[in-house]
Amino acid sequence: MSGQASNIVILTGAGISAESGLGTFRDAGGIWSKFDPMKLATPEGYAADPDTVLDFYSARRANLLEARPNGAHLALAQLEQAWMQAARGQFLLVTQNIDDLHEQAGSASLLHMHGELLKTRCTACGHLFTDREPLAVPRVCPSCGQAGTLRPHVVWFGEMPLGMDQIYAALEQADLFVAVGTSGTVWPAAGFVQEARAAGAWTVELTLEPGEVSALFDERHYGPATEVLPDWVQRLTGAGPAHA
Ligand code: APR
Repeated sequence: MSGQASNIVILTGAGISAESGLGTFRDAGGIWSKFDPMKLATPEGYAADPDTVLDFYSARRANLLEARPNGAHLALAQLEQAWMQAARGQFLLVTQNIDDLHEQAGSASLLHMHGELLKTRCTACGHLFTDREPLAVPRVCPSCGQAGTLRPHVVWFGEMPLGMDQIYAALEQADLFVAVGTSGTVWPAAGFVQEARAAGAWTVELTLEPGEVSALFDERHYGPATEVLPDWVQRLTGAGPAHA
């Protein structure tokens, strides 16, 4: 069914980066089982205790700088290249992840709907810049010079995800929608499969275990992304699996 697809939208979640050593959120031992998201991933939490929030994201930023893409990231970069070389149609990779492993693997048509951990934004002047340094309240904005105004460029609970117009436009045109490594518990991303089905797309779920919206997918394959995704890409494109 998916072999005739021309416009493809892919959604990734924390599960695609799990085998690169970055934590997921809701698995056993996940990030939200150790830290309170309401204190660390909300505007209110940041306002109440910026030091603790900035320390939390500085630790995740340092962890990310040690991480490398895995075979699943590489398989998606390979799929994008094959898709574009064959001029098969539109390709959009939407990620809920704030890491840069898709970029490191070579993905180009990429949209971070929950922001990016390696970017910092000034809440005073809006300056947005790539930043690999630890965040701390006394740091001053390199643009406006104010201190105490820098935050991670990450979408917190209660804030509007990024790129939604572009995402919904792509879903309306999709012939194939693939969700990789996401539990389907956080909206609006969890609703993308329904948008794709309404557009007549074939929908595929590739994750470790069934998620909250698994029943809505036409096709489901379970297992580690580094095994399931390269196999699925090979079947779709006929090309050999990516090698980590
Ligand atoms: N390979 C494939 N899938 C995996 C693997 C793996 N090696 N390990 C875990 N998974 C799957 C889990 O089965 C689960 O379905 O990845 C999913 C992780 O789910 P969550 O931890 O909920 O992560 P995600 O769906 O990305 O969360 C969405 O919630 O807290 C917010 O902003 C945060 O972007 C995040 C959003």
